[in-house]
Amino acid sequence: MTRRFEGKSVFITGAARGQGRSHAVQFAREGADVAISDICADVATVPYGLSSEDDLLQTVRLCEAEGAHVLSARVDVRDYDELSGFAAVAERELGKIDVLVANAGIFTFGALTELSSEQFGDMIDTNLKGTWHAVKAVVPGMARRGYGRVVIIGSSASLIGYPNVGHYVASKHAVLGLTRSLALEQAPNKITVNCVCPTGVHTTMLENEAAYALMSPENPTLEAALPVLASMNPLGEPWLEPEDVSRMVLFLASDEARYITGAEFKVDMGLTAP
Ligand SMILES: NC(=O)c1ccc[n+]([C@@H]2O[C@H](COP(=O)([O-])OP(=O)(O)OC[C@H]3O[C@@H](n4cnc5c(N)ncnc54)[C@H](O)[C@@H]3O)[C@@H](O)[C@H]2O)c1
Repeated sequence: MTRRFEGKSVFITGAARGQGRSHAVQFAREGADVAISDICADVATVPYGLSSEDDLLQTVRLCEAEGAHVLSARVDVRDYDELSGFAAVAERELGKIDVLVANAGIFTFGALTELSSEQFGDMIDTNLKGTWHAVKAVVPGMARRGYGRVVIIGSSASLIGYPNVGHYVASKHAVLGLTRSLALEQAPNKITVNCVCPTGVHTTMLENEAAYALMSPENPTLEAALPVLASMNPLGEPWLEPEDVSRMVLFLASDEARYITGAEFKVDMGLTAP
């Protein structure tokens, strides 16, 4: 096992479970200290449960078991003051933040002509504004120190459209634009900024009845949804595991990727190749 992040501190949003937890544990395994946060509450427009405090505690335990110094907090990325307050604590307690992974996100469903203003607003406030909040809270410290790695979690929906999730697609296209612009702004400060664009990942975001109904409206079950997901990409697998995405995130955060910036990285089984 390589220890690429010995002496580094990593700040990850949405880390109580799913991909965020996987990223946190992999960074901890490779020597990093981590500052992890999550909303630990449900949101009315999201038709599946978000994380709990127990989920966040479980991520803390898993990272500590890898030997990491771990800070954790309940933070709603829609609230800049909460996020910047935790970033300030992390900078003070860990001495610096070297890596930001802007990961928190939601996935809700509906045709663009039918979405409510609340559904559209929560999507943009979480996936886009929440990402910007994390950047605004963490990147100025990186700039002062002249070092930083920012990894923004996009999606195959950063690159192509999908019906019935247009607000998600809009939010994920937008974070790719944010990635490119931030990379240009922060290059003089030796901060790299990249966007990871996964296809479907095996997490609660896809493993819930509302998502099954998106894939298979007549029969909204996991058994019916999996072949539909598998038919969407040339490799014919239904979804990635969170660790498949973590490997790309850690690469982009490592010194091996020191000259890579302003770019998007697909982990999508060829889905967007055609
Ligand atoms: N699962 C997929 O198929 C898939 C595919 C491509 C991209 N993504 C993206 O990957 C990222 C991680 O998603 P995941 O697959 O691990 O799903 P997930 O639902 O397991 O994890 C998302 C986490 O974000 C948290 N979160 C939601 N709203 C928040 C808020 N306002 N403030 C703080 N935390 C909040 C949730 O509580 C949850 O812990 C998201 O940005 C998602 O859009 C997911």
